Amino acid sequence: MTSYADFYRQSIAQPDAFWAEQARLIEWQQPFTRVCNYDKPPFVHWFEGGTTNLCHNAVDRHLKDRASQAALIYVSTETGIEKTYSFAELHGEVQRMAASLKALGVQKGDRVLIYMPMIAEAAFAMLACARIGAIHCVVFGGFASGSLASRIEDATPRVVVSADAGSRGGKVVPYKPLLDEAIRLSSHKPEAVLLVDRGLSPMPLVAGRDQLWSDLRARHLDDQVPCEWMASTDISYTIYTSGTTGKPKGVQRDTGGYAVALAASMKHIFEGRPGETFFSTSDIGWVVGHSYIIYGPLIAGMATLMYEGLPTQGLDKQPDGGIWWRLVEKYKVTGMFSAPTAVRVLKKQDPALLRKYDLSSLRALFLAGEPLDEPTARWISEGLQVPIIDNYWQTESGWPILTIANAVEKKATRFGSPGIPMYGYNVKLLHESTGEELTQPNEKGVVVLEGPTPPGFMQTIWKDDARFVNTYWKSVPGKMVYSTFDWGIRDEDGYYFILGRTDDVINVAGHRLGTREIEESISGHAGAAEVAVVGVADSLKGQVAMAFVVPKDSAVLLDAAAARKLEGEIMKRVDQDLGALARPSRVRFVSVLPKTRSGKLLRRAIQAVCEGRDAGDLTTMDDPVALQQIRDLMGAA
Ligand code: PRX
Repeated sequence: MTSYADFYRQSIAQPDAFWAEQARLIEWQQPFTRVCNYDKPPFVHWFEGGTTNLCHNAVDRHLKDRASQAALIYVSTETGIEKTYSFAELHGEVQRMAASLKALGVQKGDRVLIYMPMIAEAAFAMLACARIGAIHCVVFGGFASGSLASRIEDATPRVVVSADAGSRGGKVVPYKPLLDEAIRLSSHKPEAVLLVDRGLSPMPLVAGRDQLWSDLRARHLDDQVPCEWMASTDISYTIYTSGTTGKPKGVQRDTGGYAVALAASMKHIFEGRPGETFFSTSDIGWVVGHSYIIYGPLIAGMATLMYEGLPTQGLDKQPDGGIWWRLVEKYKVTGMFSAPTAVRVLKKQDPALLRKYDLSSLRALFLAGEPLDEPTARWISEGLQVPIIDNYWQTESGWPILTIANAVEKKATRFGSPGIPMYGYNVKLLHESTGEELTQPNEKGVVVLEGPTPPGFMQTIWKDDARFVNTYWKSVPGKMVYSTFDWGIRDEDGYYFILGRTDDVINVAGHRLGTREIEESISGHAGAAEVAVVGVADSLKGQVAMAFVVPKDSAVLLDAAAARKLEGEIMKRVDQDLGALARPSRVRFVSVLPKTRSGKLLRRAIQAVCEGRDAGDLTTMDDPVALQQIRDLMGAA
């Protein structure tokens, strides 16, 4: 058996040989002629000359050996639906969806925006796009009209696929009115909207634009739609993520590199074997959903369990803190992927629930998306008695950057550390201002990657190569390296520890949000003159957003009832614009915000005060009263 150190070394020293070997894990229609083209850094082209298709590798490829085996296991504790689709059945549904999209005019290279709850049709839609070479842009169903509109505007989709409603904790969340409003707000209008009617919420249709999936499905029941053979470097999808500005970035991914990266990660990191079941509790609206609900497990020939609902609700809609373990037992889940937040929610449940089910099929629990705190890791590790594998990555990377590849070589995990650099990632720590590489253990620096970035990594920002280069590759003086915008340290054995973001991105319950987007939404309220939003540590959600607002009418500062009213209105505005996820936990009113003399908001100082920490160097601060006000407000809370 190769040691991980050798495996890793080869991936960095001889990337062509290394990745050519990994590329054998997927099926190609035409073999590639060049493994890695890095002629124009930082842009990388993987597997040039090769043609393949993601849907072929996820579905069609398995028909030969496992047509009747489970491919998609769908469980909704919101609607009580539980249904298993075999690979043959999934193949049928995906072709119906592909034929429907084609009938609506979708062609190779067109964008299809998917705004859907966690229903099987969302998986059909993603795979159908991949099948016909359309670029899917999945927007998280928890986002509201404003967020959705800016994504429609940027992606200019020919067709939108959506549904009448989602459901959360038994509460119906209508999607259609939010979609209609988003299309109204956007200057780009999709030609057609394909709608799944779940019967949860009334859904008036717009004549000439809206089509029902049930109608189109019936019309295309027996259609055969062959896979479009895509160049390896053709775009498979874009997914929007937050950054420092209010404008979300369309992270763009290729086809062949992504397929290879996922196949390799399923083998070396997630240890998924054909015929087994993988259960990722994420949502298709996030990168984890793309990589490890839909494509990764299916490419590996596994069944994937797609779950709609809370971790604490049973199929009979009664509280059930053991629902996930019940599903692990029932479907013999071998690998499970979740987020620390979800585990912290479960930790409040009766620990006996973990012992109630036969969890012997489970080999590991993978957690990602936010720092894994030690008490949470210990609790779940003792409860499940399987390795808990933290993994650190980003929407941009598509698959883990730091973790442990146990299938290459078993290695000990270290509490608080997501692990060591994964094959293909040349990870470095750089000094924040000088850009010098930090080589000594336990020095704090910015986590960066040296190019070429491995297969699966983002190609660019959709329609904006300049923004891609300027945002990610030019943040360190004098060096062209990819910045993760995370702080980190490395111990003497090479294990990394992630210490939070260097920018204004916050992480609420494992969901990545930009404080600027929230600020822009709040600024839109007529009663707000100025606003600062910061992320504040929270024991359950990791972080929550907290807003400090200078009201236009200073009377609000003295009138508690008026302040409460304005706080409620501002929260409602954020709900409507961005979605409840982005809603600040509190809106506090101040007469002035802490700024530097040049007018730059001192977000880090505000955040430190909110968390009861030292505010750091304040020599550049303009008006000391500003921070004192926040200190007083927090003290009074
Ligand atoms: O700050 C890091 C944090 O989440 C960011 C990426 O979020 P997102 O683009 O939503 O991708 C999530 C993919 C799993 C990172 O820049 N983060 C992610 N995983 C971890 C983490 N922080 C600490 N530990 C992790 N395991």
